Amino acid sequence: MRDVTPDTISDVFASYFSDETDPRFKEVMAALSRHMHAFVREVGLTHDEWRKGLEAMEWAGRITTPERNEFVLLSDVMGLSSLVDMINSREGATSSSVLGPFHVSDAPPMALRADLKGDFEGEVVLVQGHVRDLEGNAIAHAQLDIWQTAPNGLYSSQDPDQDIMSFHGLMTADENGYYAFTTVRPVSYTVPTDGPVGDILNAAGRHPWRPSHLHFIIKADGYRDLVTEVFPDDDPYLDQDTVFGVRRDLVMRYSPQPAGTFPDGFALSGTVDGPWAKVDFDFKLATK
Ligand code: BEZ
Ligand code: FE
Repeated sequence: MRDVTPDTISDVFASYFSDETDPRFKEVMAALSRHMHAFVREVGLTHDEWRKGLEAMEWAGRITTPERNEFVLLSDVMGLSSLVDMINSREGATSSSVLGPFHVSDAPPMALRADLKGDFEGEVVLVQGHVRDLEGNAIAHAQLDIWQTAPNGLYSSQDPDQDIMSFHGLMTADENGYYAFTTVRPVSYTVPTDGPVGDILNAAGRHPWRPSHLHFIIKADGYRDLVTEVFPDDDPYLDQDTVFGVRRDLVMRYSPQPAGTFPDGFALSGTVDGPWAKVDFDFKLATK
């Protein structure tokens, strides 16, 4: 096609695919180009603006490492990661939510009722619940990969003073799908702002904060893996998560418990003298 115009460029693009092109690849790429072309027409994008966009991508590429992926962060703050989560979640199952960049593979196994906080100080929180199917039946022996920030607002991979496995643990629920562990409250924190994503947030007048949360990846044979987070109902950033990860069903409550009432049977039993908080949260998994 030698007479390409602003109105025909998307169709011309689609006509360049070969007949052997994978149909799903063609569908996705043709739609992507259509929307990108429409975006350029709609805003009347200038050369200068497009160059700035490309420079931001180049910067993102330069600072991306195995530990810090600026493209994933861009997808997160643009709402793309959350939108992909939402349109792929199963009705009735616990919502999925962003994985984030701070998950560490091969977390150490953690016994039922074990403690995640180690030597860190803070108000003790007991988190417990059940993993169930969509009919409410227990899923025996589901595996829960759990991680969170330390009280200083840093994940282990961001903090040279923490062991890489601090605040990371892998728990197997019992035959009734019951899981339980103790920890300290995670805190609200900011996404990294020293790259192009920080500049974009800044230019948009947006803050970089996420509400505090506990991360979970839950796996069980025959069920879809669930990557999610749970958020306390009293967090000031609950309604303005900069990566759009909060869903109504992922909100939990810290229920305050008086001193002297911490139960037996936990790794911390006998050591919790002051008040503590309890969180009850059940997860529902969809079948594959
Ligand atoms: C997190 O939850 O750890 C996270 C998620 C998205 C971007 C940055 C951090
Ligand atoms: Fe997080």
